[in-house]
Amino acid sequence: MSVGTLEEIIDDDHALVSSATGPEYYVSIMSFVDKDQLEPGCSVLLHHKTHAIVGVLADDTDPMVNMMKVDKAPTESYADIGGLEQQIQEIKESVELPLTHPELYEEMGIKPPKGVILYGVPGTGKTLLAKAVANQTSATFLRIVGSELIQKYLGDGPKLVRELFKVASENAPSIVFIDEIDAVGTKRYDSTSGGEREIQRTMLELLNQLDGFDDRGDIKVIMATNKIESLDPALIRPGRIDRKIEFPLPDIKTKRYIFKIHTSRMNLADDVDLEEFVHAKDELSGADIKAVCTEAGLLALRERRMRVTMADLRSAREKTMFAKKDNGPEGLYL
Ligand SMILES: Nc1ncnc2c1ncn2[C@@H]1O[C@H](COP(=O)(O)OP(=O)(O)OP(=O)(O)O)[C@@H](O)[C@H]1O
Ligand SMILES: [Mg+2]
Repeated sequence: MSVGTLEEIIDDDHALVSSATGPEYYVSIMSFVDKDQLEPGCSVLLHHKTHAIVGVLADDTDPMVNMMKVDKAPTESYADIGGLEQQIQEIKESVELPLTHPELYEEMGIKPPKGVILYGVPGTGKTLLAKAVANQTSATFLRIVGSELIQKYLGDGPKLVRELFKVASENAPSIVFIDEIDAVGTKRYDSTSGGEREIQRTMLELLNQLDGFDDRGDIKVIMATNKIESLDPALIRPGRIDRKIEFPLPDIKTKRYIFKIHTSRMNLADDVDLEEFVHAKDELSGADIKAVCTEAGLLALRERRMRVTMADLRSAREKTMFAKKDNGPEGLYL
């Protein structure tokens, strides 16, 4: 193996790389390489003979920042969200507006909230909305997932949290998005195992950091969870994350809207009447609706049909509801 620098991505499976010894190569990217990590300037691992890219090396100048997946431009926007008008309004007032117009709050003589927590059952659009906010503002968007903090970087949790807020303040205005916060933020119980103590230290560091950026209005924190009842109250006490925004399952009107969003680019047969699904009594989340639409499309494709029929949608719904029951509420969302 040798190491090279990625110069340019040509297409999905080809790129230009330069090697340490000088020459540039037009090489293929092996299918198992994580494409999301590839960006011009990063170091890549090359096969010694073919020079094909077989791996990506973490940026050694600032490895921590790399781990945070600085999602510079999520593509989701408010237009992709069905319903949730009130939730969008609240997040605008507590995250977006303070970053874009801090003077308004100053004039009013109030301190905008430091952050918000989005909570509700799985698949109700929490992650989606956080990404849409990032898209809407030009602020730096840092994203970290609680479970990753625990699983991948065990031992580095507290350091990573410190680094996260350091990067946020160096690149302010910024939004720090901590998804699946329940993985680190659960109530503190007697923890004797090393792993649990580590989780606690991560959590304490998080509290520390939340208290730390008191006087600056240019960092906002968004957290998301589907288990708010299990969170340590310290995390969401006033002065830290004091705005709680609930994400309910969609009502009939919203279901209709979400179906519309997810079928908007699909080719529907004339017999399709989405009202049947909109009015069905089962509890469909936004993610379920998306799953039904995608599944129906796949069913049609399997028979080489370019139109999705009512029958496709019905069996897709059956399948989705079955998977949901079978695997518990979290089994389905991809
Ligand atoms: N209100 C909505 N409008 C349109 N699409 C939605 C809506 N809610 C969910 N979806 C669809 O479901 C997918 C999953 O939603 P999202 O990841 O935001 O759920 P979540 O609330 O973060 O769930 P979890 O608690 O499991 O993390 C979204 O990418 C989107 O396609
Ligand atoms: Mg989520």
